[in-house]
Amino acid sequence: MLTAEQNSILTDVSPGTPLHNYWKKHWIPALRSEALRAGGAPQKVELLCEKYVAFRGHDGSVGFLLEACPHRGVSLALGRNENNRLTCIFHGWSFDAQGNCTRMPTEKDQSFCQKVKGQGFKVREGGGVVWVFLGDGEPPKFTDFAFTHFTRDHTRPRASYNEANWLQNVETLMDSAHIGLLHHDTTADANAPQAGLQLVTGNDTPKYTLEQRPYGLRSYSLRTTGAEKDYLRVTEYVAPGTAFIGTTDAEAAFVIIVVPVNNTRSLQWYIYWDSRQLIDNNLPDFALMGTDESDDNFAASRQGTPNYGQDRAAMEAGETWSGVPGVIFEDYLVAESIPIVDRTREFLGSGDLAIVRLRRELLERIRQAEAGEDAVKSQECDYRALRALAEMVPVGTNIQDFTEGKRQERISQFK
Ligand code: FES
Ligand SMILES: [Fe+2]
Repeated sequence: MLTAEQNSILTDVSPGTPLHNYWKKHWIPALRSEALRAGGAPQKVELLCEKYVAFRGHDGSVGFLLEACPHRGVSLALGRNENNRLTCIFHGWSFDAQGNCTRMPTEKDQSFCQKVKGQGFKVREGGGVVWVFLGDGEPPKFTDFAFTHFTRDHTRPRASYNEANWLQNVETLMDSAHIGLLHHDTTADANAPQAGLQLVTGNDTPKYTLEQRPYGLRSYSLRTTGAEKDYLRVTEYVAPGTAFIGTTDAEAAFVIIVVPVNNTRSLQWYIYWDSRQLIDNNLPDFALMGTDESDDNFAASRQGTPNYGQDRAAMEAGETWSGVPGVIFEDYLVAESIPIVDRTREFLGSGDLAIVRLRRELLERIRQAEAGEDAVKSQECDYRALRALAEMVPVGTNIQDFTEGKRQERISQFK
């Protein structure tokens, strides 16, 4: 349970709030690289309750600017993309990728351009994603997660939006307890996508262990099975919105990144990567189940359907638990059911340990950011080695040592 003030600190991302300022200290995945064609249409991007526009010049460089033209506020998303400049169609003012005004046809004295320079933001591209730093000053070290080192052949970034506050989306990612319940149809399936996942079914009180890390939290959930192996899931949480979700070694690795669009809308990234084979040959079935073709907003085609098509008749007939086909849409249905949860009225149990630690971690980092301390700790983080686990391990395994061993294996692969 939180106080009303704590709930507000963690959920209100409006300009000027501590959460808004904290998010602006991070690299944010904003849109897919492929969504920006050189010389093509600029794209509107809303992040942290503010409106931006992104474009790719003919030279391939990406510009990321405030959407409103600095002259009189017309949307630059309507602008002309030519000569590596975005030109407002109202009075023809032009801006380069750094946001410097380079031409003002309505002014005799072009030196006036100097007054409106520096309207752009720093961008990086990696893993098929355009990342932006929206804060002031120098950005932190880039979050060079493993997939950011691969080309599109080996990494598949997919984005979608839902109508829920960002925090409850992140909380869902950290909540191992719901997997065997909300996602029962998937975990109970004899052909479940992962070896071991069936063991989650009916095993809803795993042993949780949480560890604080420089980047955020490492969360272990261990399910005993009565056989000679236990089922271990390890989630790596990178504050504020990233959670690496466990997959087996045979599968593609997987990360979900939640970004606040505004207080009741989230952008969510679902990114798979596999260094060993072409990613499109090793994408797990559930990654695409029921989603449409667009990797820029793959849930859109399902969002006109009430309750994501929850099938009451099938629920009554005992054929399904949630009534909703698809793991991702089960999560969305739950998250969107209350746009901003009132956390002053909860009853948190032992199954909510990761949620409690997540909130505590975020509140502390937001406080640090407000105090001018290093809330990101990027210099202490080896982002490349992060990957979650979903493994059968012999009973009695030291799960911390096992997880660290896996991490060391990955680090050695980078050398
Ligand atoms: S509003 Fe953009 S040039 Fe005038
Ligand atoms: Fe889920």
